[in-house]
Amino acid sequence: MTLSRRQILAGAGAAAFWPVFAGPARSQTGATTLTAAPARIQLAPPDYAQTDVWAYNAQVPGPTQRHARGDVLNMRLENRLDQATTIHWHGLRLPNAMDGVPGLTQDPVPPGSTFDYSFALRDAGTFWYHPHANSLEQISRGLAGVLVVEEPEGARPDVDGDEVLVLDDWRMAADAVIRDDFGARHDMSHAGRLGNYITVNARPELRRTVPAGGRLRLRLVNTATARVFDLRFRGLAVWLAALDGMPLEQPLALAELVLAPAQRADLLVDVTAAPGDEALIASRERDGTFALVALDATGPQRAIRPAPAPLPPNDMPVIDTAKARQVPLTLEGGAMRGLPGGGTWKGNRMDMRALAGAGQFWAFNGMVGMPDAPLVAASLGETIRIPIENRTAFSHAMHLHGMHFRELRAGGATGPWRDTLLLRAGETREIAFVADNPGDWMFHCHMPSHQMSGMMNWISVT
Ligand code: C2O
Ligand code: CU
Repeated sequence: MTLSRRQILAGAGAAAFWPVFAGPARSQTGATTLTAAPARIQLAPPDYAQTDVWAYNAQVPGPTQRHARGDVLNMRLENRLDQATTIHWHGLRLPNAMDGVPGLTQDPVPPGSTFDYSFALRDAGTFWYHPHANSLEQISRGLAGVLVVEEPEGARPDVDGDEVLVLDDWRMAADAVIRDDFGARHDMSHAGRLGNYITVNARPELRRTVPAGGRLRLRLVNTATARVFDLRFRGLAVWLAALDGMPLEQPLALAELVLAPAQRADLLVDVTAAPGDEALIASRERDGTFALVALDATGPQRAIRPAPAPLPPNDMPVIDTAKARQVPLTLEGGAMRGLPGGGTWKGNRMDMRALAGAGQFWAFNGMVGMPDAPLVAASLGETIRIPIENRTAFSHAMHLHGMHFRELRAGGATGPWRDTLLLRAGETREIAFVADNPGDWMFHCHMPSHQMSGMMNWISVT
C-alpha cells in the first residue's frame, strides 16, 4: 500500500484532539540553543509508525522563536548530525557574517561543533530558519523552523489568535520512512523533489477551535523544497497583511493565495463560518482540493471587526529606478529546454551532455553553480534592477539573501517587498533592490534540487 493523501485525509477525523486556538502571542525568547540531531516523531497519521527525521531540538518544525523587534537574537547552533550544517536566517536583513552560507559567509559547522549566531532583529515579521549546507536533504528531513519578530506593543493588530502554519510536504514510503533519493536526477532536472504527503505543522490536518466572528492572524510559511501551494479558503474573510516578513501598504482582500517555497504570508482572517460550522484552508492539487487546516467555529457569535489597518511598516529604502543599474538574468536549462549552448561550471566551459553527466542541469546567464565572480558587484547604496527571464519549462522561486526587493511592474508600479519571487515557466519579471547591506549574498532558486544542480549565484555589495 502506498501512502497517499487521499487515504490520509479519509482518516483525518481523528484529528479532534487539537487544542483550542492559542491566544494572542506574547514575546518569548525560548530556546537559546538549536541542536540539529536525528529524532523520531509521529509524522504520519497515528496508525502508522513513527518517522526518523532530522530536527532542531527534536521538534518538527523546529521551535518557533518569538522576539520583539530590536531584540538581539543570540542562538547557538549545536551540530549533532553526522555531516556539516549551518543555519540561514531566511529573510532577515542581518550582518553578512551571520547569514549562514558555508563557503561564502562562514565555515560549515562540522559534526560535534557549535556556532554562535548573534544579530539584531531590525524588522518585525514572519521569517524562518533552515540549514544552508546539503540543503535538499537537511531541509527535506525536517530541519526548518519559524522566527517571528513582533511589532512593537500597541502596534499589533487586534486579533483573537496568532498562529504559525508551516506548510510542508514529505516524500514518504508506505512504512512512513522518508525516501533517501536526494540525488534523483529526475527531480533535479524537472520540478524538484515534490513530496507525496502534505503537512501543516507536521500534522496531516490541523484542527483548531476558533470563535465565530473572531479575527486571527495566520503566519503561513512554505518550507517545502519544491511544492508551490495554491490555497483556497472557506468560511473565512481573508486579508493579506504581509509577504515575506514585510507589511503591505494596505491589507489586500483575497480569495486565493499562491505560496512558493520559502515564501511567507501573514493573513488576517475573520471567521465568517457560523457557530457549529467549519472554516477551511485547503490546497488545490492536481487531483482535487484538500483541507489542510480546519477551524471549528464556536459561539457565541462575535461582532465582525472593521477591515484591518496596515501593519506598521519596517524601515525600507526608497527604490529610485531612474538611478538604477540594470543587470539582466536569464534562467535556462532543465528537462525539455536543456542548455543548448552549454554552460560554465567551476571555471570550465562544458556542453549540455558533460554538464548532465556531472549532475548539473541549469544555468544563470550561462553560469552553472557558484561562479568565482558575482552576478552583480554592487557598490554600497547602489540601486540594482534585474529583469529575470525564465526560459525554462518549470517554475522557480528566486531568493535574494540580505536585502528585500520589489517587483517593477508595467506602468511604473512597484510590487510589495519580497525576498523570494516565483517565476512561472516562460515568465519575465523584473526586481529592484537597494544594495544597502554590505557583504556577499546568495541569489538562488529556493528549490534546492535546482540550486544544487546549477541555479545559484551571488551578489557582492562593497
Ligand atoms: Cu532560505 Cu539561500 O535560503
Ligand atoms: Cu528552480
